[in-house]
Amino acid sequence: MDLNYSTKNIFPVPIHIFDVNGFDEIQNRLIDYAYNLREEDEGVCISNYGGWQSNSFCVENEDDVLHHFIINCLAGFPVIDETFNMKVSAWVNINKPGDYNIKHNHPTSDLAGVLWIKCPKDCGDIIFDSPTSFQSHNELKSYIDDFKNQNNLYHSYYFNPTEGRILVFPAHLNHRVQENKSNEDRISVSFNIRLNSGRMKRRGKVSIPRWNFNWSDKK
Ligand SMILES: [Fe+2]
Repeated sequence: MDLNYSTKNIFPVPIHIFDVNGFDEIQNRLIDYAYNLREEDEGVCISNYGGWQSNSFCVENEDDVLHHFIINCLAGFPVIDETFNMKVSAWVNINKPGDYNIKHNHPTSDLAGVLWIKCPKDCGDIIFDSPTSFQSHNELKSYIDDFKNQNNLYHSYYFNPTEGRILVFPAHLNHRVQENKSNEDRISVSFNIRLNSGRMKRRGKVSIPRWNFNWSDKK
């Protein structure tokens, strides 16, 4: 039979990738920041198995080296409509050799992200599950490899951690971090983003919380 065949992907899941040029100039300051924070914060246990995870903090202080870095990276998020603000909370992770993060998602957030600060070889990939991996199990299995690869049709997908790279992804997307099989620490910063269109002081697209709002700035 004479057939034309085509496909169109109608509900993709965007993973936003930011690479920070010149990251090595600030990397050591951020590494020191992580270890200094661990000295004063006993941390929490959420998705981390063995690793240290700081308490979360609102990203608001432009005089703080880590806050400033995150604000500057996200302020120019190129594909978020300018009427939306982002309210960002973050935490620092240090996974020692043998540590990992179990599967989780980020409830009550809209987007979630990770900044990779120190990632020795084999320190653990981040693995995302397809949101339809259960419902589409047999369908996904049935496709030929070329079709899967051309259309990113997988049950799960991994990214190697890369120093100076940020991933931002939908907060509902289940993910985990593999065991750190290097013999050094793996250091990252995770964050949550709430999107809103409220009237807040902004730096680019990042909201500074209302209690810091200086109404005299308003034009
Ligand atoms: Fe996460």
